[in-house]
Amino acid sequence: MLQRSLKVNGVPTTLIVRPEDSLADVLRGQLGLTGTKIGGGQGQCGACAVILNGKLVRSCTTSMKRVPDDSSITTVEGIGTPTEPHPIQLALVAHGAAQCGFCMPGFVVSIKALLDQNPSPSRTEIRKWFQIHRNACRCNGYKVIVDSVTDAAKILRGEMPREALEFKMPQDGRIWGTSYPRPSGMAKVTGTANYGADLGLKLPPNRLMLGFVHAEVPHANIISIDTSEAEKMPGVHKVLTHKDVKGRNRIRVFTNMPSNRGDGWDRPILCDKKVFKVGDEIAIVCADTEEHARAAAEKVKVELEVLPAYMSAPAAMAGDALDIHPGVPNVYYEMVLDKGQDPAPILDSAPYVVEGDYYLSRQPHLTIETDVALGYYDEEGRVVVQSKSISIHDHQAMIAEGVGLPMDQLRIIQNTTGATFGYKSSPTIEALIAVAST
Ligand code: FES
Repeated sequence: MLQRSLKVNGVPTTLIVRPEDSLADVLRGQLGLTGTKIGGGQGQCGACAVILNGKLVRSCTTSMKRVPDDSSITTVEGIGTPTEPHPIQLALVAHGAAQCGFCMPGFVVSIKALLDQNPSPSRTEIRKWFQIHRNACRCNGYKVIVDSVTDAAKILRGEMPREALEFKMPQDGRIWGTSYPRPSGMAKVTGTANYGADLGLKLPPNRLMLGFVHAEVPHANIISIDTSEAEKMPGVHKVLTHKDVKGRNRIRVFTNMPSNRGDGWDRPILCDKKVFKVGDEIAIVCADTEEHARAAAEKVKVELEVLPAYMSAPAAMAGDALDIHPGVPNVYYEMVLDKGQDPAPILDSAPYVVEGDYYLSRQPHLTIETDVALGYYDEEGRVVVQSKSISIHDHQAMIAEGVGLPMDQLRIIQNTTGATFGYKSSPTIEALIAVAST
């Protein structure tokens, strides 16, 4: 352990920390400063940016042993508040830069560090600064952020009044067609908006953390699952498998295509007989800490009979391919395509023709916030799942029977969401959280 006397946002404090813990984890977990966000935790997105002794750093990859005693740290909370925002925060809200907002605290701190050393940066210098410091935003184009920096700089140089960025409500009260600021904007740029992981740190002390046992092969029969060693690991409360799921253990997929070959109950919550893809969940460890949950998950033994992997649609459609879902053809549905005019004559006269086979990536969305969810019983005894779901009523209908709950005993609430770009219209961890909560 290390003792560190720090000045955080101007306030002196003394902490005992583990040398290998990241500055981001210490700020968030030990000091409750959840304005600093963690995306991938690999220093790639800049959401965790803080100013350490005058220098911009990514706190998720800065271990506490690299933070000297008597250090001075500025986080987003030390720059401005919803009632007294800094011009940088005002400008980001006015320009609509805070969309999902997950990246915003990192940008606010990064812009502060830039303007501290260069009060009149050019647009090129601003963009270069974000490149060097890896500030990534996945929602907006960077133009509105650069516009925000130039306006904030003007205010700080005394060339523009703050009021120029404050929204004036039209006399008729109509906001359609105006630049009315996003209602959640100020909370997002001041770090006071709580995303899933922030809420996780604000749960009562005896909450459990979950560690998942994921499939590491794309296609296999499950021969056995042995949780005995994992159950003896420190801090473990329970290890759950498909046997513990109180309902049908299937996620219901709406089958509204007339040519659909399945009945919509093909997708397991916790794998029982088969693994269908890398990342399928086989077991859940419920433990007192994330570390304990992850360590115990490593000890779950899963014996598999590995089956042929079909890594593309053509491979799965081949005549000799096994049924991925036994009894359901791999060609799950067919769509009629109207291809229009024969392209051959057009292609014959085109100056260039490019042909090739292309595969798209498995994860196209690349949100900066990870997939976080939490569950609990509410005061009326209902199971509540809070997640990034952007389809809460669909998800409730898709998982209730699978987890063994009547619809009116399952609530799904959407957290402030660090973007999904569509992937969260499908349930990911909602059913797993509901299983662990019951
Ligand atoms: S607003 Fe930047 S990632 Fe969503």
